[in-house]
Amino acid sequence: MTSLTIHEASAPFAPRAVLHDFDAIRAAVAASGTLLERWPLVDLAGAVSDKAILAAYAPRIAQLQARGGYRSHDVVRMVPDHPARADLRAKFLAEHVHEDDEVRFFVEGSGLFCIHHAGQIHALDCTAGDLIVLPAGTHHWFDSGAAPRFTAIRLFTSPEGWVAHYTGATLATGLPAYEGPR
Ligand SMILES: [Fe+2]
Repeated sequence: MTSLTIHEASAPFAPRAVLHDFDAIRAAVAASGTLLERWPLVDLAGAVSDKAILAAYAPRIAQLQARGGYRSHDVVRMVPDHPARADLRAKFLAEHVHEDDEVRFFVEGSGLFCIHHAGQIHALDCTAGDLIVLPAGTHHWFDSGAAPRFTAIRLFTSPEGWVAHYTGATLATGLPAYEGPR
């Protein structure tokens, strides 16, 4: 279930509020310009290849491309026994920004997007069916947990794909580690 935990950046270990109502969550994250939508999941009938996933969501991807000018897309997936899970987690866990929007649609599994904006951290637990669009320049990080499991479609405007600029902030270490949907 999608949830949002709101922390004050000055005291990140003591959450100020936890929201579970999707409309309330969507309204809260809109403060940072973040877009959150709920898409109906397509029954993939056991097909798990990247090609099958992209084909199943092709109309939605086309809508997003038209809306945001995205020129490339792919599928990213993590499983609990992925040999590089610790290194990949660390790569996304430090606060960073992109010159591109960060666009993710969760096909299955979950992960925690943490948005640092206006003195607060919005820890958004995304689950299957969630589309999130972080505008370019948003300070954020992503925690997939020590036993990650998710499959997501990513869209990019830049041909280079995922390029991050790390801010050097260490706020991520002040939040509880992600352990799965709350
Ligand atoms: Fe990012």
